[in-house]
Amino acid sequence: MATNRTFTMIKPDAVANNHTGKVIDDILNAGFKIIAMKYIHLSTSQAEGFYAVHSERPFFRDLVSFMTSGPIVAAILEKENAVEDFRKLIGATNPANAEEGTIRKKYAKSIDANAIHGSDSDENADIEGNYFFSQFERF
Ligand code: CMP
Repeated sequence: MATNRTFTMIKPDAVANNHTGKVIDDILNAGFKIIAMKYIHLSTSQAEGFYAVHSERPFFRDLVSFMTSGPIVAAILEKENAVEDFRKLIGATNPANAEEGTIRKKYAKSIDANAIHGSDSDENADIEGNYFFSQFERF
């Protein structure tokens, strides 16, 4: 069942490059409502847990290392058709393939440092949001 919610992280590259405010502005201007948000520096085990589904992929260690290299902003967002619309807003995983005007096209440099994460399904949006936020931290 569609929940109309998605989960995002503004990644360490975008935070370090002072793009946090502009990215949040893009998200709000696209009609998403912020349900929960936190600014945190992930530990290695937290990043490994979040990306466990990729643990057998060749890029896993680099991904964990990158995601723990600096603070991130994690958030749960709400909008009709949230997962699909958010993935359109952020653009392709590899910014080289991202459409003009998308967040990754504007702020990402590479497939590793790609500025932002967006859940790929309603089921994962739920799992990922629950990974970061307790029931008392979202409404
Ligand atoms: P994200 O949507 O956060 O989920 C997994 C991340 O792995 C992805 O964004 C990319 O930043 C990163 N990654 C690095 N290399 C690859 C690759 N070859 N294919 C997919 N994702 C990759």
